[in-house]
Amino acid sequence: MKGAVSNVLEAVGHTPIVKLNHVASHVSASIYVKCEYLNPGGSMKDRVAINIVNDAEEKGLLKPGGTIIEATSGNTGAGLAMVAAVRGYQTVFVMPDKMSQEKVASLRAWGAKVVICPTAVEPDDPRSYYEVTKRLVRETPNAFHANQYYNPANPEAHYVSTGPELWEQTGGEIDVFVGGMGTGGTLSGTGRFLKEKKPAIKLVGVDPIGSLYYEYVKTGRLTKPFSYYVEGIGEDFLPGTMNLKILDEVVRVDDKECFLTTRDLVRKEGLFVGGSCGAAVAGAVKYAEASGRAENIVILLPDGAGKYLSKIFDDGWMRENGFLEEEDPLGTVADLLRTKIKQKLITGHSGDSVHKIVGLLKEYSISQLPIMRGDRLIGLVSEIDLLNHLIGGGKYEEPIDNLVESDYQTVTPQTKIKLLKNVFNDAKAIVVKQRDELAGVITKIDLIEYLAQKNS
Ligand SMILES: Cc1ncc(COP(=O)(O)O)c(C=O)c1O
Repeated sequence: MKGAVSNVLEAVGHTPIVKLNHVASHVSASIYVKCEYLNPGGSMKDRVAINIVNDAEEKGLLKPGGTIIEATSGNTGAGLAMVAAVRGYQTVFVMPDKMSQEKVASLRAWGAKVVICPTAVEPDDPRSYYEVTKRLVRETPNAFHANQYYNPANPEAHYVSTGPELWEQTGGEIDVFVGGMGTGGTLSGTGRFLKEKKPAIKLVGVDPIGSLYYEYVKTGRLTKPFSYYVEGIGEDFLPGTMNLKILDEVVRVDDKECFLTTRDLVRKEGLFVGGSCGAAVAGAVKYAEASGRAENIVILLPDGAGKYLSKIFDDGWMRENGFLEEEDPLGTVADLLRTKIKQKLITGHSGDSVHKIVGLLKEYSISQLPIMRGDRLIGLVSEIDLLNHLIGGGKYEEPIDNLVESDYQTVTPQTKIKLLKNVFNDAKAIVVKQRDELAGVITKIDLIEYLAQKNS
């Protein structure tokens, strides 16, 4: 019939670009969103699923009647299940247990088998969803591992479809492209296409606090990640599909701003979107506030609100997790720093002697000192490092550089005090950075003193 496509896979893509009129009205930039949540399988991963399956069929890796296996937080699963339905494959999906019930139920609705694994284990633990996936691939006859974290067909999907589509729709009038950082498919693939067309385009990645991308891009350090609620973005390892070199900027967002922005997108803009969309928009707004430029920013909105009704759109859940409180009674890192700032921020420098650093710790009665090289933080030195150095026969006049350690996490002044508990589980100290500039250092004893004051 005229006007019909031959199957649902041909209905993937050609999603509209919509201007935001309310949630970002205070910035000079014009902000637009590409509504990938309107794809038939529910997200931009439809594009990825089609490309991965086409590629596997071409290479003979996926044979008729075969089983597609994937570790997925849901959207890639939905896309793959949709392709499998049309082309006659079976699907098995492995998911971490923090994923919403709606995501699990919807994958089962597609006819997939879903295996749930614990979130709070290391990626190389045999119970982790990466390892369980590998085992299932080994044990299932005629299995194909879609492997979106390492399969080049993932970013390539965006290179051949999302990028060209965006370029055509905007007539090239795009200055900044913003996307959440998950496997990296979206940013690496779309970004590569857009930069080839117009090298001046800026690519901005949005990363949730708790993920390792931000710190890795800014300092090259691989920090221990900690858990957060927003789904689909942030990683606890570096996937092969993420090309970090192509990014011009990474912006960090916390769960509360992701979820409140998501609710605003639905209620003020009429866009029925999920949590990583709120994250991407909150990140883009921060970028626009900092740049102050009048330019065209396009943000990719990955998926819809339907899978998050019992979380982001449930006031009980939001309140329980502190996302609806006007003000957290424990305050933020900025409040803690204000109580500490009887002393100004003291730093040591690369090349300073152990002697000089000991003097600074004594003079200011502090137990740790950030060490800078130029205006870049290279790490911290603490009393215990100095002690170990001297007990081990180290010299008093030696430069401090070999003692600098990187067992710290970074947060922003806006981070909730409540979150620091998770951070201190894994790191000795916390460095506070405001837009990449060092704003303070927090130790466990600083936190204890602050909480004790609040209590008294
Ligand atoms: C809801 C959602 N948002 C964002 C992303 C991140 O996209 P990408 O994997 O292309 O980096 C994903 C990836 O799974 C996702 O499911």
